[in-house]
Amino acid sequence: MHKVLFVTSEAYPLMKTGGLGDVCGSLPVALESLGCDVRLLMPGYRDTLARADGFEPVARLQPPLFPHHITLLEGKLPGKRVKVWLVDYPPAYDRPGNPYYDPYGNDWYDNAARFALLARTAVALALGRTSLSWQPDVVHCHDWQAGLVPAWLSLETRRPATVFTIHNLSYQGLFPRDTFTALGLPDTLWSSEALEFHGALSFIKGGVVFADRLTTVSPTYAREIQSPEFGCGLDGVLRRRSRSLTGILNGIDTVEWDPAHDAHLSKPYSAHRFRNKLANKLALQKEFELPPDPDMPVIGMVGRLVYQKGIDLLLGAIPKLAGMPLQMVILGSGETRYEKALEHAAAHAGNRLAVRIGYDEALAHRIVAGSDMILMPSRFEPCGLNQLYGLRYGTVPIVRRIGGLADTVVDATPANLRAGTATGFVFDPAEPAALAAAVTRALDGYRNGRQWKKLALNGMRQDFSWRKSADAYIKLYKTALHTR
Ligand code: ADP
Ligand code: GLC
Repeated sequence: MHKVLFVTSEAYPLMKTGGLGDVCGSLPVALESLGCDVRLLMPGYRDTLARADGFEPVARLQPPLFPHHITLLEGKLPGKRVKVWLVDYPPAYDRPGNPYYDPYGNDWYDNAARFALLARTAVALALGRTSLSWQPDVVHCHDWQAGLVPAWLSLETRRPATVFTIHNLSYQGLFPRDTFTALGLPDTLWSSEALEFHGALSFIKGGVVFADRLTTVSPTYAREIQSPEFGCGLDGVLRRRSRSLTGILNGIDTVEWDPAHDAHLSKPYSAHRFRNKLANKLALQKEFELPPDPDMPVIGMVGRLVYQKGIDLLLGAIPKLAGMPLQMVILGSGETRYEKALEHAAAHAGNRLAVRIGYDEALAHRIVAGSDMILMPSRFEPCGLNQLYGLRYGTVPIVRRIGGLADTVVDATPANLRAGTATGFVFDPAEPAALAAAVTRALDGYRNGRQWKKLALNGMRQDFSWRKSADAYIKLYKTALHTR
């Protein structure tokens, strides 16, 4: 049985700003059910501590170069058996709101130190330098916040194997050179073959360069990031590591996201009781103050309002969409320019477009359930979870053929419809006109009620549980242990 330490900044429900939280809150549960002994290490953010019922201090650590000691709090992922350690260090983590940004939307000034602290703690645990009796065989690090862990561990002769998962290559954790020295990183790690990235310190390179095994969250994204177009300046390093890099598709938490038992819905439904989905649509129209109309197709969108998500493509397509028989509901938060532009568009779209700026887990469920279609026009998408939630809820995805979206949605071409494999609508160019054309195709499909239901039910039948991918991670842990 492998002992695996997950090092992550987010794990639902203790902390979530996006898919990283979903994955690190559900993959460990799947790994446990396959016999792994998985423990999580994550920062004790203020909001996390507020949700951490029953956590108790179990160890104290003095990280090098930090003025105070850390307290490790131990507990369980709420409602699950998976053990969690929270790094309690109030000067770094006891702050309101988002874990990465201050209330003005700027990066916290001391992010380098905050996540170096997470890494230092992980390294101490990994090397058995704490009073805890548990030591991992594999340390599985997620995204740039955990990037320094494989780098620091690479300096040790006796160490666990390391796996680094790239959930999003565009967030790299770049800091000025003097941070490198301040964090006590050794000079041997300052080179373009190590942590340096064009004169800056790159946290993500710690994972990309030094982990025994690299993964990302879909096979297509694993290929894409080795090209200049999607490599965010790291495609060269990734090509050099291509033999150690695999794409393992994300799964979803099929208990949390289950239309038949979803407590957030006004009326649960399933493939057998598909007609009950309609009650959720009417409730959604009411909630967003759109004219209630069972026959009007509703397109939903939930997500971070950032460049990645193709918000500009949607904004460019709105004049065309406004002339179509549809309603649209959007929930999201992120860059002010997108928030403002969407609110402006909603104010001028009559009764067609409703926008809610904010973060609301329950409303996200109601949108996925109450919409007929879910839109993800992403410019890039490492995996994407909302299209998977859409499929499970019989809410047909309209997506760009990119990253994990390309790997999970099968376009409703005549041939795929005939073969019964179609699950959604896929478009290629990152252009508003292509988005609008895909929506037009979806609306045409919607008007053919019988075929639409077949398409929706086909999505509901797909298996996006963690089973297969958790197996793939276990195989990968074995390889990492052999090749360490
Ligand atoms: P990413 O990780 O790039 O944000 P994913 O599609 O992988 O994209 O995952 C996003 C997750 O975050 C989904 O569970 C989605 O429902 C959730 N989410 C994003 N924005 C919001 C929001 N404003 N309110 C509620 N949930 C949100
Ligand atoms: C990232 C990606 C998203 C992916 C998620 C979980 O935030 O943007 O595509 O689904 O991580 O892996």
